[in-house]
Amino acid sequence: MAEARDEQGVAKDKPIKQRKNGLYPAVSEELATVMKSGWADTERHGLEPIEQAPYAAARRAALSARFPGERIVVPAGRLRTRSNDTEYPFRAATEYVHLTGDQTQDAVLVLEPLPAGGHQATAYLLPRSDRENGEFWLDGQGELWVGRRNSLAEGEQLLGLACKDVRRAAEELRAATGPVRVVRGLDAGIEAALADKVTAERDAELKSFLSELRLVKDAYEIGELQKACDSTARGFEDVVKVLDRAEATSERWIEGTFFLRARVEGNDIGYGSICAAGPHATTLHWVRNDGPVRSGELLLLDAGVETTSLYTADVTRTLPINGRFSPLQRKIYDAVYDAQQAGIAAVKPGAGYRDFHEAAQQVLAERLVEWGLLEGPVERVLELSLQRRWTLHGTGHMLGLDVHDCAQARTETYVDCTLVPGMVLTVEPGLYFQPDDLTVPAEYRGIGVRIEDDIVVTDSGARNLSDGLPRQADEVEEWMAALRG
Ligand code: GLY
Ligand code: MN
Ligand code: MN
Repeated sequence: MAEARDEQGVAKDKPIKQRKNGLYPAVSEELATVMKSGWADTERHGLEPIEQAPYAAARRAALSARFPGERIVVPAGRLRTRSNDTEYPFRAATEYVHLTGDQTQDAVLVLEPLPAGGHQATAYLLPRSDRENGEFWLDGQGELWVGRRNSLAEGEQLLGLACKDVRRAAEELRAATGPVRVVRGLDAGIEAALADKVTAERDAELKSFLSELRLVKDAYEIGELQKACDSTARGFEDVVKVLDRAEATSERWIEGTFFLRARVEGNDIGYGSICAAGPHATTLHWVRNDGPVRSGELLLLDAGVETTSLYTADVTRTLPINGRFSPLQRKIYDAVYDAQQAGIAAVKPGAGYRDFHEAAQQVLAERLVEWGLLEGPVERVLELSLQRRWTLHGTGHMLGLDVHDCAQARTETYVDCTLVPGMVLTVEPGLYFQPDDLTVPAEYRGIGVRIEDDIVVTDSGARNLSDGLPRQADEVEEWMAALRG
């Protein structure tokens, strides 16, 4: 339905975002007066804290202990404009979510050092929209446009934190004295207020500490990652059921199908879904997803549901589009499967982080030599990493709120670490024969296989959070046949 528009092309019946382009709708005094009143009090009382609240408090306590006497500032991030008054979907910064359980845009967590030691934590949040000054209906971020927010009092009950109006945050931080650290790259206004108090080196140290604080997941986080994997498994089942529609259209049907599951059961996808059919499977981050889906080829689907609490799965299955692996597809698939089995077996407390990678690479190097694609001995291949022409990437990474979680952790605490219970990581070996690779027989070209699962280190070994999906070739075929009827 066409909207009425004024001479500037602005919809006549809609107020304009005041802060965006300076255009104001004509608001009569009478209308402004009418809009101020006649609204019910919807304040909520006696709210239960969110489930994350005690976990977030424990994380803040660790942060407090690491930086005694210093003010710590962790913004949630600002909305980013896509065009004019249209914004990109907002996703709060991982550090902020981890320390608060909150996902409010524009918010800032401040840990203020107390004279007696420890810190006072305050979440600076956008409060309810003011009705007296018309903000709630005249501002593009007013509640009438974007929905009701929690009041500050409600925020305090839900988060178990003192809450203040975020519009005071920059001013208060500018006036504050003493050492300060801020997580950079999230809120230019807050950074400007702190510009003469912080250093890049000290802020990088904070960021690194917060990454390391996420290396070991607590019980809440493991529960959320399990939910993410379970939703992801359902999303993969959805895809198998519509492969005929994908064949009639394109990889986009797969992307859209998985996205539907992610949005209905979670917040979003945790990263751009890789829906790579046929030779696209050899492109590691194929997210254009605009290619054909053809019987007889493989589909490499790497996708993860992000829960409403923002934890993501990261799962890959490589599936025969017609439901049956060809002999060569199966040979390559089995090699990757065996490598993944060896990798998963190497995940346990006390093992080195690099062990699962090396175990998987060992298997893949052996197969490549056995197939005559590489000259042995295997030890020499591994020493020179010659298998990497076809294995291409590392065998896994930490997983959590970010798909590549803990990425700012120091080498000694991540890549060189010893695994401990509560770490969650992916094991994801692959083999990729590019369509134009003249060093392999023609029939290998254009085949790409990756199998990826999400593994939590337990007291006694490890648990596969994504084992709701089959991996072994026969089981994959049976599962597909059952889903397709
Ligand atoms: N989905 C990206 C990765 O597997 O690391
Ligand atoms: Mn991964
Ligand atoms: Mn992945």
